[in-house]
Amino acid sequence: MTQFYFDGQRFESSEGESVLDTLVKAGHELNYSCKKGICKTCIVQHVSGTLSVGSQRGLDSTLKENGYVCSCQCRPTDGLKLKSVMTQDLFISGSLLSKKFLSESVVEVVIKLSQPIEARAGQYVNLRRFDGLTRSYSLASGSDARQVVLHVRRKYNGQFSDWLFHRAGNGERLLVQGPLGKAYYQPHFKQDTLVVIASGTGLGAAYFMVQAAIERHHEGPIYLYYGANNIDELYMHSQLLQAAMRYRQLQYLGCVSKLDSMQTLPGKVVLGDPFEHAAEQHQFDRQHRVVLCGEPSFVNAGRETAFLNGVPIERVHAIAFEYKNLRSRERA
Ligand code: FES
Repeated sequence: MTQFYFDGQRFESSEGESVLDTLVKAGHELNYSCKKGICKTCIVQHVSGTLSVGSQRGLDSTLKENGYVCSCQCRPTDGLKLKSVMTQDLFISGSLLSKKFLSESVVEVVIKLSQPIEARAGQYVNLRRFDGLTRSYSLASGSDARQVVLHVRRKYNGQFSDWLFHRAGNGERLLVQGPLGKAYYQPHFKQDTLVVIASGTGLGAAYFMVQAAIERHHEGPIYLYYGANNIDELYMHSQLLQAAMRYRQLQYLGCVSKLDSMQTLPGKVVLGDPFEHAAEQHQFDRQHRVVLCGEPSFVNAGRETAFLNGVPIERVHAIAFEYKNLRSRERA
């Protein structure tokens, strides 16, 4: 047993438990989502005592300097003292400005911010609802520093996405943390062959990455592969066709897993897996840089495929999130 303190209260953790595990087991209402050090929703603040290695992994230097810690990555040490963070230290306020349904299952959400942020393609934000429920979403645009634009897929039993999709109305108050994440377009990518592979609402982040590359005068070719279950899910197809006509260096291909018997494939759409089409198209080498946007299972599969096809792992960039509600019990 290891004893540590959170907000002045003593807790005892068992072997192998994180601070988050111990607090949740004791019924504490701490926010969390991925439990992997990715989403940053479980952040607490260090007061005194020894921090275990990795407690601050993935946090930016400002958060580290201010003693923030991911409670899911922090192993308790004897006498360690931690405290809750003040919401206003990590979040800014925002309100829902508009919703636009892009398909039957995807909605574009625009949130007006109380102060500007500097968002880059490939980054994400955490949204917190009135009851504390928090989710991470990739940014789909960064053209206005006082707004965030997100593509949200309605998930089966997804508390947050379902609420955003059906019930949240314009003016709804939200808290916004971020932007977070380091998988953004960087100047030294400029001459690389950029291969962006996306699925689901990862397309929003993927297209933002493509736009950022073009705006920064990317010199190498850019390929965008988008995988969807069926034609109806290719929710930005005409916009991407237009972009490919406008920017000669951009090539786009939609890849669908199945076709209804009455349907024919539109132009620039093929049957099959986007990874397989990308691997067929490219002799991957050190000139290639692969960006993967989608859910963790998709991104992990893509990372492996890219590596097995000869792309050095440092040239594979992943934009993925866990959306699952891992709480064992509902909030009050
Ligand atoms: S970073 Fe700890 S729950 Fe996601």
